[in-house]
Amino acid sequence: MSISSQWLNRPIMKLGTCYYPEHWPENLWAEDALRMVETGLSQVRIGEFAWSRIEPDPGQFDWGWLDRAIEALHAAGLEVILGTPTATPPKWLVDAMPDMVATNEHGHARIFGSRRHYCFSHRGYRAEAARITRAVANRYGKHPAVVAWQTDNEYGCHDTVLSFSDAARLAFREWLAARYGTAMKLNRAWGNVFWSMEYRSFDEIDLPGHTVTEANPAHWLAFRRFASDEVAAFNRSQVEILRELSPGRDVVHNYMGFFTEFDHHAIAADLDVVGWDSYPLGFLDSFSFTEADKLAYARQGHPDIAAFHHDLYRGCTPSGRWSVLEQQPGPVNWANHNPAPLPGMVRLWTLEAMAHGAELVSYFRWRQFPQAQEQHHAGLLLPDSEPALGLAEAAQSARDIAMLGPVGDPPKQVALVFAYDADWVTKIQPQGKGVSALWAAFSCYSALRKLGLDIDIVPPGRPLDGYSLVVLPCLPIVPDCLVAELQRFSGQIVIGPRSGSRDADFAISDGLPPGPLRALFPGKVVRVESLRPGLTHPGKDWEIERWLEHLETAAEPEMIALDGTVACWRHRQVRYMSAWPNQEVAHAVLARVAKDAGLATHALPEGLRLRRAGNKTFIFNYSKETVHLPDTVTGDLLLGQRTLPPADVSILKAN
Ligand code: GAL
Repeated sequence: MSISSQWLNRPIMKLGTCYYPEHWPENLWAEDALRMVETGLSQVRIGEFAWSRIEPDPGQFDWGWLDRAIEALHAAGLEVILGTPTATPPKWLVDAMPDMVATNEHGHARIFGSRRHYCFSHRGYRAEAARITRAVANRYGKHPAVVAWQTDNEYGCHDTVLSFSDAARLAFREWLAARYGTAMKLNRAWGNVFWSMEYRSFDEIDLPGHTVTEANPAHWLAFRRFASDEVAAFNRSQVEILRELSPGRDVVHNYMGFFTEFDHHAIAADLDVVGWDSYPLGFLDSFSFTEADKLAYARQGHPDIAAFHHDLYRGCTPSGRWSVLEQQPGPVNWANHNPAPLPGMVRLWTLEAMAHGAELVSYFRWRQFPQAQEQHHAGLLLPDSEPALGLAEAAQSARDIAMLGPVGDPPKQVALVFAYDADWVTKIQPQGKGVSALWAAFSCYSALRKLGLDIDIVPPGRPLDGYSLVVLPCLPIVPDCLVAELQRFSGQIVIGPRSGSRDADFAISDGLPPGPLRALFPGKVVRVESLRPGLTHPGKDWEIERWLEHLETAAEPEMIALDGTVACWRHRQVRYMSAWPNQEVAHAVLARVAKDAGLATHALPEGLRLRRAGNKTFIFNYSKETVHLPDTVTGDLLLGQRTLPPADVSILKAN
């Protein structure tokens, strides 16, 4: 396929906003809609929290206001993404069905008064969610303004995937019976002979939350798989109704950042477009970045936060259709510290999403709401309707997008393999502080991006043809389909620590780790250690820290610390990282491998990042300094300059 035919396939990215007509007097709606259009927005996401206004009393629907709100948006030419309001069940429903709420690990019920106060396993609530979905879809399913549906809102937000309720216990037992058939088989698979944990029937099995010391990790893994399946079933029950009553519309859901509590690949199988909510400054402040990075990027966000999630969620479906359903437009309200973005960042984030092939960037929210929990959360407008800092940048982004036209796909360079059960394994049994499969994936992604490479993040089993390099940063459970794909693959392969170390029921792999990957790599892990801060093995410009594996292997040691400890082994085109892939180790390994893979890399200044899309190269300056684009990055300037001020974007076209 030629570059030009590739890029004609992607529609031009749209801009939108999240709007809550129920928060504002009706006489503002038409004016708001016109201002949205003037700003260059074409889609509006509404309705996801409006249940108490749609059905104020049981069975009494008030459609009038929503009919008129949709009409006002439609009259201005805006397209509507309508949310099912199931993240906010009204008070009367909770009162009628008090056991529908989720229960936390300590046995406390999550009460009414905010949102997401429901348990995915409660069959009565699932029926209510289906009922309200059917009602809304009946009313608006064929409305010409409605182009897509969002199911619920941010499944799992506020720690709501794992519920330790009675409903969850009953459903878990059924799930176990279906998976294992007999209690005896379950006992064997989990190794329940250890500590006399054997069960005689499924009815004896509890949820793993309240044991004296840690529960069997196999028990936790089964519970996490079950809880993820419950989210998928909840979502699917809405999707089926929407497909029936609203044919031809996309069904989307908004995933979160650095969030692995359910299997996003599995839920994506029922969606048309995978959405996610991008809050780079909130995420930087809330997650495990270094204090130095938190300061250096406080107003820009770490340069790989948004890009990592764009590629993770783009990879969730074979079609690669994805959107940003919420984009931070200014300070948020929920991190420990909530600074304003540097001028330019709202536009930069928007164009970074475009470079990764987003269909939509929708700013959250249109107007800051002066009451309730999110008073300090910026909108595109201030509460008094004057422009907030993001508005002009959204408008500028709209002009940039119109000038650039459609963009194409990135070249196939690196496939990074990630699975949600990998992160469940390292959460359940970290074996050392800071050991997380998700963060191993982020670290490898970041090291690759600093080299100027384009990365696809894919689930195990996705075809690997066409890539030059495949990286498994940390993948404890390796399915057979991945081994088969890797055996067919002729490029370079990097296997990270703990990969292939567990079977599907959390036992150490037969024949020792890397288990099934021994078909590719001649060696076995005979000892693992986790290392406290300071207990390190320094190498040349990297050091072994946090996690170390000792191997018996016929492979060659390739990276050796000053004391002789091996950080990376090599057998033909396969590398095995026996050390934790922190930034320096990941860089040292991946820079070599990229060279062996024949990939051209770049020495990018701090904070500068690239992304190719068809025949265009986007360049983003996330640093607080002015930086110069290295000469190795070539092309004709379409936008910006080769010298980029802080928070600026340049775009080159292949010459
Ligand atoms: C998201 C959520 C929105 C809003 C936003 C604030 O998690 O979907 O409803 O709360 O955060 O940043």
